[in-house]
This record gives sequence, C-alpha cells and structure tokens, in this order.
Amino acid sequence: MSRPARGGSGASFRSGLRQRLTRVAEAAVTPLELADVLDHFHPLRRDSADLRARIVSVHPETRDAATIVLQPGKDWAGHVPGQYIRIGIDVDGVRHWRAYSLTHGPRPDGRISITVKAVPDGIVSNHLVHGARPGTLVHLEQAAGEFVLPSGIEQGPGKLLFVTAGSGITPVIGMLRNLFPVTDSGVLDLPRSHDLDITVVHVAPSEPVSIFIHDLRALHDAGAIRLVAHHTDKAGRFAVDTLGEVIPDLAERTTYACGPTGLLDEVRTHHEGLGLPLHVEQFRVDTIVAGEGGTVGFTAAGPTVDAPGDRPILDVAEEAGVLMPSGCRMGICMGCVLPMTEGAVRDLRNGELTVAVPGETHPDGVPIQTCISAAAGDCTLSH
Ligand SMILES: Cc1cc2nc3c(=O)[nH]c(=O)nc-3n(C[C@H](O)[C@H](O)[C@H](O)COP(=O)(O)OP(=O)(O)OC[C@H]3O[C@@H](n4cnc5c(N)ncnc54)[C@H](O)[C@@H]3O)c2cc1C
Ligand code: FES
Repeated sequence: MSRPARGGSGASFRSGLRQRLTRVAEAAVTPLELADVLDHFHPLRRDSADLRARIVSVHPETRDAATIVLQPGKDWAGHVPGQYIRIGIDVDGVRHWRAYSLTHGPRPDGRISITVKAVPDGIVSNHLVHGARPGTLVHLEQAAGEFVLPSGIEQGPGKLLFVTAGSGITPVIGMLRNLFPVTDSGVLDLPRSHDLDITVVHVAPSEPVSIFIHDLRALHDAGAIRLVAHHTDKAGRFAVDTLGEVIPDLAERTTYACGPTGLLDEVRTHHEGLGLPLHVEQFRVDTIVAGEGGTVGFTAAGPTVDAPGDRPILDVAEEAGVLMPSGCRMGICMGCVLPMTEGAVRDLRNGELTVAVPGETHPDGVPIQTCISAAAGDCTLSH
C-alpha cells in the first residue's frame, strides 16, 4: 500500500521532503554553497553552474591529429552537424578557450566528438592531441555556427560540393556521418539520403596525414559520395580554377568549403566570378591590414604590454601573462570583447580604426574584439 501524504498528495509530500533534505544538506556544507559542492562531485549534473564535459577517449587519426570523444553535461542542448563547440581547458594552470567542429551527428550514446590537428607551437591543439587524458574535465559551451546544411536537404535531389583541406574536413565529416551512418556492416544506405549527390574534394599534404581519408574512401566505395582526393606531395598545389574540369556539373552544385585562408580566398574569388552559391567555414583570421603599433595597458593591476601593429592584442597580452577572455580567436564569437577606455585599435581584417576618448565616448569604454584588433598607438582596456 502506498504511503498517504499528510495533508496533501504524494507529490507535495515528496516536494516537502526534498526541501527539508536540501536545507539539511545546505546546513551541512556551510560555509560552502550546496550547488558548488554538488558540482564538485557531479560536474556533469543538470543545472550545474557551468556546462562541462568529460573526456571519454582519445583516438589518434594521423601522427598529428586525434579525435577526442566527450561526454557532455546533462544541460547539453544538442547540435546540428557542421556546428562547432568552444571548449575551455587548463594548460599549465592557464585556461584557454578554443573552437572545434563537431565530427559526428547526434549520437545514440549522447557523446560528442571533435578532431584536433596539432599546429606548430599551438598551445591547446598540441595539448589535446598529445596530452589529453580520459577522465579530464573541460569547460564547454553550447554548439554554435551557421556552417550547416539546410534542414530537409535529404528530401530533395540536392547537389552538393564540399571543398576541404587539412583539418577543414572536420565539420564536413560530421555532416557526412550524419547523412550516411557507418555500422559494423558498412555504410547505411538510408532512404532519406538516397537522392543526395555529393562530391568531396579533399586536399592534404600526403595520404598518411590526410585526416579521415579512410572514412571518405569508404563512403566513396559505398557510392554515398564521389571523392576527389588531392595530395600535394604527388599532385602539387591544388588549382582552384580547375574545379570546373574536375566537376563538370559544378554550376548545379552548392559548395561548402573549409580549409586554410588561402584556399578559401581562392574559392571565394572563383565562385564569385561564376556567381555560384558558396558557404564557408574559416578556422583562423589572417592579418590583412597592419599599421603602427603601441602599448596596451589594463585598468586592473597588470603589465603594460608592447603591442606591434600587426598582432592581435589577445595574443600579445596572453604572451605577457595577462589572463584574457577568448573564444574562437577569429572575430566570430565575441568571447574576447573588452571595453577600451582610452586609445585606438585597428581591425586587422580591414584596417578600420576604433577610438575611445575619455569624456567623449561611453564612460564604460568602447567594446573591442581583442582577437582581431591590434594597438594603433597606446590604449587602455578595462580588465
Ligand atoms: C569555428 C572554428 C572551428 C574550428 N574547428 C577546428 C577543428 O575541428 N579542428 C582543429 O584542429 N582546429 C579547429 N579550429 C581551430 C582551433 O580553434 C584552434 O585555433 C587551433 O587548434 C590552434 O589552437 P592552438 O591553441 O593550438 O594555437 P595557438 O596557441 O592559438 O596558436 C599558435 C600558433 O599557431 C597559429 N595558428 C592558430 N590557429 C591555427 C590554425 N588553425 N592553423 C594553423 N596555424 C594556426 C597561430 O597563428 C600561432 O602562430 C577551429 C576554429 C574555429 C574558429
Ligand atoms: S575570440 Fe571569438 S570574437 Fe574574439
């Protein structure tokens, strides 16, 4: 027989009991906050203060790239293939935030994966590829990004072209794995993806360092995609203006491109010239316009940093030991914005100047993105 609730329903009895237990627990952990104590023991719990994820496993892909599988916290809201996450990870006692594309669609086990290529002198990428250990907790932000296929694309005879190079394959493999799941018995031929017509042009320095080349070949062999693998050690530099020869029906396709800035710029110019639809995902911003530098000071205690006119304030400040907020490091997420109370900075992408004048501009400062701004003279950041 179920226990009758005194003065109310079973639900209100449980709710009252929960409240009493919470008060007892709060008293027991005082002076700490109960939520902090729970976060400590259950960092992935629902309603925790920060979204976090635990590294479940690390799988080498090539000699300098690895896939990291993560179990996100219960508040993870899911993603659309092609999107990226930002993770915050401590390296030598300093928290760094970086963006990484998700390399699977939503998985039945609720896990997510990223694939990282170690770049020369890269703090986070080398740490993740060569030093990440299962069990490690990382900070996580919800998925973001517009580099996704339109919803319902599977329903029509969509003609797509993916142009990728190096680690630029990562968002695309996420889309492809979602469209064509691979099981132990091979690539699934799902009715929903049956009518898609996909060509992938993937450029890499050589076959052994080509990330996901085996997955791409398996999709090609199963008839899911047509793969054009281009290895520059054998075939030389990939000439974007030959795309029309390699893909005779190029004009009928919507192109999604991800790779180094040089390749993306060429694809942009090529497609603009022909009036072809193009979606681009870029991993880093290149300096286009540099000027005279200066110094960067901080209103809170901190060093005044020499800041050349061709380098982001974020980089020079971090190198000088200043703990800076950051995210994508290429001008898209706004994770690095700080108010500038005085001085001028130059946008490295287009040369535009932003100026803060005490008494004239906003008293709290003018917001600037430190990842794409270089000092243009001396400036002071409220930080
Ligand atoms: C939306 C988005 C998605 C991304 N997805 C992925 C992904 O799926 N896989 C992945 O490996 N990376 C991805 N990146 C890049 C990633 O966020 C980091 O920039 C990269 O891992 C380098 O970080 P780091 O700390 O190792 O290098 P840093 O310590 O920040 O930089 C060290 C040096 O490397 C140079 N550098 C920085 N980034 C790159 C780069 N991408 N290529 C070459 N040189 C670079 C810097 O200019 C600097 O000289 C993505 C970036 C964005 C914005
Ligand atoms: S770090 Fe993302 S906009 Fe600057």
